[in-house]
This record gives sequence, C-alpha cells and structure tokens, in this order.
Amino acid sequence: MAKQNKPQQVPDTGYEWDGIRELTNPPPRWWMISFHASWIFCVIYFILYPSIPLIHDSNKGLLGWTQIKEFKEAVAENDAIKAPYLKKIAEMDNQALLADPAMRNFAESSAKAIFGDFCAGCHGAGGQGALGLFPNLSDDNWLYGGDLDTIIETITDGREGSMPAHIEMIDEAGINTLTDFVIASSQGKATPEGLAYFNEAGCADCHGENAAGGDGAPNLTDTIWRFGSSRDEVLRTIRYGVNEDPEDVPQTRIAKMPAFEGKLSPESIKMLAVKVHQLGGGK
Ligand code: HEC
Ligand code: HEC
Repeated sequence: MAKQNKPQQVPDTGYEWDGIRELTNPPPRWWMISFHASWIFCVIYFILYPSIPLIHDSNKGLLGWTQIKEFKEAVAENDAIKAPYLKKIAEMDNQALLADPAMRNFAESSAKAIFGDFCAGCHGAGGQGALGLFPNLSDDNWLYGGDLDTIIETITDGREGSMPAHIEMIDEAGINTLTDFVIASSQGKATPEGLAYFNEAGCADCHGENAAGGDGAPNLTDTIWRFGSSRDEVLRTIRYGVNEDPEDVPQTRIAKMPAFEGKLSPESIKMLAVKVHQLGGGK
C-alpha cells in the first residue's frame, strides 16, 4: 500500500457529508503511473494509426496502416507460399500428378474451396448432384469420361448434352416400345428385338449399338439414371429430348454445364479435375 498520512493531518477540500470529509491526498503512485502511461499510449496511437473520423475519411496516421493493406499482405504471403506448387501443377503431366501423393493432396485441398464457390451450387457440396438436373460427380459413372484430360475439357469448355426430341419422328407406339426397352435394359432384361428397334430408330447413333452410351450419351444398361427411372421420366426424355430449343420444345430437358475458361485459372481447373477424379474413385 502507498504510504498515506493520517486523515486527521490531511487538509480537506471543504466537502463534508455526515462526518465523512473529502481529503486532498494525492492518488497512489501506481495509479498515477498507469494514468500517464495510458494517455501517452493514446497520443502515440493517435499519431501512428488512423484515429480521427473526418467527414469523408479519417486521418491516415504516420504508419499508413489499413485493414485492407494488412489483408492484402497476408494474401500475398499466402500466394508466395503457393506459387511454386502451382507452377509445378501447371507443368506436371497428369499421370505424374495423380501418382504423387503430396501434389495430389495439395491439388485436392486447394480445389476444395474452389469447388465450394463454383461447383457445389449445382453439383452439391459432396459432388452428389441432383437427379434430373446435375450429374453425380462422386461415382465412377461418367457421361463424358473420368480421366483427367476429359474432366479438364469439361470444366474448361462446359458441356451441353443434346438429344433430339423424338415426338415428331417416332409414333406413340414406337416411343412406348423404346421406353419399355430402356427400362428393361436397365434391369438387364432387354430383348434382342428391343435392341434391334433401338438401333433402327437411330438411338444407337449416340447411345451405342448395345445402348452402353458414350460421348455424353448415358449408358442405358445400368441402374444409374441421369433424369429418373420412372416410365414418365423416360417417356419425357424420348419425346422431348435434351437441350432442344425451349421455345420450340418447352418440355425439353435442360442440361448445361457452364464453361469456366477465363473464370478460373488453368491451374485451378487442373486442381478441380484432380478433386473430381478422386471423388469418382480415382480410377
Ligand atoms: C450451373 C450449374 C453447374 C455448375 C455451376 C457446374 N456444373 Fe458441372 N455440370 C452441370 C450440368 C448440367 C452437367 C451435365 C451436362 C450434360 O448433361 O451434358 C455438368 C457436368 C459436369 C461434368 C461431367 C460429368 C460426366 O459425367 O462426365 C463434370 C466433370 C462437371 N460438371 C464438373 C463441374 C465442376 C468441377 C464445376 C465447378 C467448376 C461445375 N461442374 C460447375 C452443371 C453445372
Ligand atoms: C444425338 C444423340 C442422341 C440420340 C440420337 C439419342 N440420344 Fe438419348 N441421350 C443423348 C444424350 C446426350 C443424353 C443425355 C443428356 C445429358 O445428360 O446431358 C441422352 C439421354 C437419354 C436418356 C436419359 C437416360 C437417363 O439416365 O436418365 C434416355 C432414356 C435416352 N436418351 C433414350 C434415347 C432413345 C430411346 C433414343 C432413340 C429414340 C435416343 N435416346 C436418341 C443423346 C442422344
């Protein structure tokens, strides 16, 4: 405790209430030291940092510090750490990239945030897609192909599967026969007559002579559906096609994967492709 005089010996300020006098003792030394340290700190802070709000701005402070600057410095520091990895990603051959666990991990974890920002809105956070709208990227079933080059091409240029509407090309009976064939085919129960008709109707031009798909046309012999397995869904696809002009065919299915060239750097696209490739089982 700071040494203080006995109350009786100290002059008072003249204020007294109910026998309690206000004395003129100086405050304790520790208190005075903190008091002076505080205002000196404030003055220095005011001089070094922006502190006084003006009408449109504030004073700048000697250090010229701003939050944005601090943020940009942190980003630049982060970029500098990543730069050699990105350079390596850009130069590395696909097979080597997939075979190098450290680089593959770097690509996958960097792509995670990009995927969240640019892809998850359609394909879902885990790449699970949405039946009828956006394909599932987390299985090893591909419309266009699951090798790194093809995935890079998909992301860079976008994709637009197209299947013509058949409602005016094939009569109702034919469309129903094809629908039966497609459903039977997915259950492994396709008949040779069904397949022959499928070929005759021109479906095989895109879906392949065994209906196993390729080049954007889905495999019709598996249990994985792009638009749905019910009879109505299959009928709709065959009648109205995919990506026909909706002005002419309002019921057509719309399936457009946007192009990301120019929106994402080639390195980001390559890293995303690694992530998508790994999601699909990494084969
Ligand atoms: C606006 C919605 C949308 C966004 C955003 C989007 N996609 Fe797609 N994506 C689609 C659609 C629709 C298709 C199917 C195209 C088709 O059916 O022809 C597709 C197809 C794909 C395919 C082909 C799958 C296969 O089976 O071959 C890949 C790979 C893909 N997207 C990856 C991505 C990545 C990576 C991103 C983020 C950079 C992304 N997509 C962003 C809608 C989207
Ligand atoms: C010009 C090529 C082309 C022709 C011809 C074509 N298709 Fe398709 N078909 C596609 C494409 C591409 C898709 C998938 C579109 C997408 O996902 O972007 C598709 C999708 C489908 C689907 C949806 C499958 C699913 O998983 O939901 C069915 C069913 C189908 N076609 C049946 C047929 C039948 C039956 C015929 C013959 C009458 C036919 N297609 C002719 C290209 C074609």
